[in-house]
Amino acid sequence: MTTHMKRKLLQFLMNRFFLGLRKIPDQRIEPTQPSLDQVTSGMHLDEKIDYVSGVESFCVRPIKRMEIPAMWMSDATSGIRGVDAPVTIFPSAIAMAATWNPDLIETLGRALGEECRATGISILLGPGVNIARIPINGRNFEYMGEDPHLAGSIASSYVRGVQSKGVATTVKHFACNNSEYDRHKCDSVVSEKVLRELYLPAFEAVVAAGTEGVMSAYNPINGSYASEHSHLIEDILRNEWGFSGMVVSDWNSLYSTEGPLLHGVDIEMPKGKWFSHTRLKQTIEAHPHWEPYLDRKIEHIRGVSERMGIADRPLIDDNSPCGTAAHKSIAASVASESIVLLKNKHNLLPLKRNEITHVVIIGSLVAGEPIGGGGSSFIKQGEPGAPIHAEIKARYPEVRINVYRGKWWRSEKKRNLLAKADVVIATVGFNHIHESESYDRQWRMDKIDRWHLDHACSLNEHTMVVFHGGGAVEMSSWVDTPQAILFCWYLGETSAKAITDVLFGETDPTGRLPISLARKLEDWEAMEHYPKDFEEIRLSRIQGGQGNPHKRNIWQLHYLEGLMVGYRQFATVGPEPLFPFGFGLTYAEFAYDDLSLQQMHERWKVTCTITNTSQRSGTEVAQLYIRPPVVDRNHPAIQLKGFYKIHLYPKESSIVEFHLSARAFSEWDGKKSAWAVVPGIHTIIIGTSSMDHRLSMDVEIKDSPDHGRNDPGTITI
Ligand code: BGC
Repeated sequence: MTTHMKRKLLQFLMNRFFLGLRKIPDQRIEPTQPSLDQVTSGMHLDEKIDYVSGVESFCVRPIKRMEIPAMWMSDATSGIRGVDAPVTIFPSAIAMAATWNPDLIETLGRALGEECRATGISILLGPGVNIARIPINGRNFEYMGEDPHLAGSIASSYVRGVQSKGVATTVKHFACNNSEYDRHKCDSVVSEKVLRELYLPAFEAVVAAGTEGVMSAYNPINGSYASEHSHLIEDILRNEWGFSGMVVSDWNSLYSTEGPLLHGVDIEMPKGKWFSHTRLKQTIEAHPHWEPYLDRKIEHIRGVSERMGIADRPLIDDNSPCGTAAHKSIAASVASESIVLLKNKHNLLPLKRNEITHVVIIGSLVAGEPIGGGGSSFIKQGEPGAPIHAEIKARYPEVRINVYRGKWWRSEKKRNLLAKADVVIATVGFNHIHESESYDRQWRMDKIDRWHLDHACSLNEHTMVVFHGGGAVEMSSWVDTPQAILFCWYLGETSAKAITDVLFGETDPTGRLPISLARKLEDWEAMEHYPKDFEEIRLSRIQGGQGNPHKRNIWQLHYLEGLMVGYRQFATVGPEPLFPFGFGLTYAEFAYDDLSLQQMHERWKVTCTITNTSQRSGTEVAQLYIRPPVVDRNHPAIQLKGFYKIHLYPKESSIVEFHLSARAFSEWDGKKSAWAVVPGIHTIIIGTSSMDHRLSMDVEIKDSPDHGRNDPGTITI
């Protein structure tokens, strides 16, 4: 069986397992609920034991005797999976990050929260914020890119939006679940400094934004399973960050009863295996003084219900909108704001309507848009999405469209027609079979797409690429041939509409890369020690030993590259990427002036003026990076600490503000186990990408007397 066939089989099995559509049974209950204390003290031991494991795969069980209702969970970040309702399929998490627009993502979050209320979902199993450490991680599309500040800001807005509707979010997968190869068996070995500075801050931001849920990862971290990781869950999440919500296990990821009971997850999903009634009862009977650990878990879960008001309302809100035109329009805005224009030779885009009469569309994805990646986030209702040719035909009936499927280059007639077309659109890349949880993704596009592209480019110079995928792909061998390239992630059910809008200039492409696109796979340092057979699919590798500690061969995946991940690496030790983090072309031009800095209590306000110097309206994403006094592998040359997306009319100027705290100038001090400001001269840089720097200013930070406690120190310009 070829690797592609194995992938298809796996998706088929996963979809069967995951995707039985269900209707959530409504429960009408009396609005007066017992208080938290009354709940734990009123529960019998048997009820408590049952409460900390799921039922029916996605449910926190009800306790009918006490009129405590069920709470249903559902995947995932881009929409509700598995419910029998006309839900909206929003763009993928990586597309949300590519918008660089937290306000828009908060709006999306509110719409998604409403859909949860309409379908009886009380706990949404997203957002995902694991850092894109390597480009071939099969789940990069479910996460928010390679930078913790960007991922943390976008995910925090998402959480605020969803939770404003009384639906809990579950940020995942805590932590260091940065690849899918052997995801149950590979132990992520990572230093405390790298953990604190790169892999945890996005989670920390989302916890600060108030997420009510955190999902633990499948993988062990530094020798300890994520589901019972006392350092991550107790020391950091609970004690340091003050998290009082619930920690949900990833599905089948417990390996003992005692560890998770004493210092791990609050609930085992999808059902009790290590938290089964028998195992937990035996454990508590052998150690009766451990019962308070059980109480604590119940308080965490009930606390979520109380704060979100879940027990005080019917599970299903018949008046809450779901799949409405308004929600689809939010999905479309996010989709179109996430599209990144990578190349636009001779201003091929936007297509000029009065000059375009004949378009040929080719490529493996011509039959329909790949609206999402595979696995547990896949929403069946939309497989595959509407094709762009249908959208163009409906909106621009005057344009003649030819759609070529299969090996069209073997037909002389088709070759001739294609050669004469005004523009050729190659829609290529990946779909939910290529890219999914459980396995990593291939580095190169399928050969068939290369053939489409190479033949078209050799026949017609006005060939452009619409690329779909959740992360970086091999591009350097073909990037020079097409005239324009749009990078499109997975854009949800309004994909065809959003792409058509951008193609014909109805909206500008305003997305920016949330990842770096490097030339070669080996350019990512982290790939140096990664298993070389990552493209191979083996069922034994995917499932073997899941949930069974005795049938597992745990091996160590060392994060030897340290902080040298993504643009942190490329800007510090190289090589230069093909397209840098933060990059995206616009049709307008912008000038940057007047960088200034002002102290405001314990924060600093950085401002600059941005002017649209061109003749057309446009949108810019100003990015603030900080360069530390000494640059080395432990102190990356630049780190993103702020960004702002702004729309400006021709010749319009605006002052843009960024706010910095002491943390922006700090590093993790291992000796003191605390953040500490780095004294010396730091450079504040304003740029349009991690490589294009427009303004900069040196500031001297003096050490603060108690820098171990986040004292801001003194800043001098
Ligand atoms: C995934 C989780 C998901 C869960 C429930 C697991 O396989 O890793 O992200 O929430 O399934 O579907």
